[in-house]
Amino acid sequence: MTEVTALFFEGELRALLQPGHFGIPLHFFRTIDSTNDFAKKIAGRGGPEGTLVVSEEQTAGRGRMGRSWISPPGTGIWMSLLLRPPFLPSQAPLITSLAAVAVAGSIRRVTGLPAGIKWPNDIIINDKKVGGILIELSAGERFVKYLIVGIGINVNTEDFPEEIREHATSLRISSGRKISRMEILISVLRELERLYSAALLSFDFKPILETYRSWSATIGRRITATRSGREFSALALDITPNGGLLIEKDTGGIEEIISGEVQLIRPAESVSELQ
Ligand code: BTN
Repeated sequence: MTEVTALFFEGELRALLQPGHFGIPLHFFRTIDSTNDFAKKIAGRGGPEGTLVVSEEQTAGRGRMGRSWISPPGTGIWMSLLLRPPFLPSQAPLITSLAAVAVAGSIRRVTGLPAGIKWPNDIIINDKKVGGILIELSAGERFVKYLIVGIGINVNTEDFPEEIREHATSLRISSGRKISRMEILISVLRELERLYSAALLSFDFKPILETYRSWSATIGRRITATRSGREFSALALDITPNGGLLIEKDTGGIEEIISGEVQLIRPAESVSELQ
């Protein structure tokens, strides 16, 4: 990654952003610890909705469940968007579904790849993770003060560290060709704005959840999940109106999981389990 390429990316990005829309103001970095951490500082200082933080590289990128997110320079999209939705904190998970639909939809449109959503918000292609979303929330007594939507997409990564190689992919690996980071980034930003404006206008998340369901890589699959330190297996049935996951446990009983994560049981594993 040369400096010229990094600067070119910034100039090109600035030229594509429009005042009054998501992406302005833009804070662009060649390197930063975490775009989510920087966006939180901006939010704390009263930064406006739509503020975007993008970095070519993150040295301490964060994933969900306290994991780190590998963010090498020049190969991916590492971005955070500041939102101030007029929501109750309990409604914030719907933004997770909205962001997942924006990312999966952009990948589908720009690359033609069959991007799916693994509940709650992993973006996967053929069961391998290509992108992730980390939503962080600051709430007052009743209402959300701000939400940071952190998005990481492996775009042109050619290889991954040993420990995640089996479970990770990039758009380049999946498609066999180089993909424009800019085209994906701009599409994600515009989709986020379009879906968010429409949802707030009517306060109706049903259309988003319908799309989420149709791209779900979890519904109909056997999964494992952990509750109170105990692992159990189940069949994933549906996405609930709150964006939760409805499951039927193997031991009986239908339940909604509202947070956390699940593991997909690969079909071959299911077969051997049944034998
Ligand atoms: C996950 O799947 O665990 C979520 C990954 C989120 C990574 C993005 S990259 C940009 C933003 N800044 C971070 O530190 N994390 C998010």
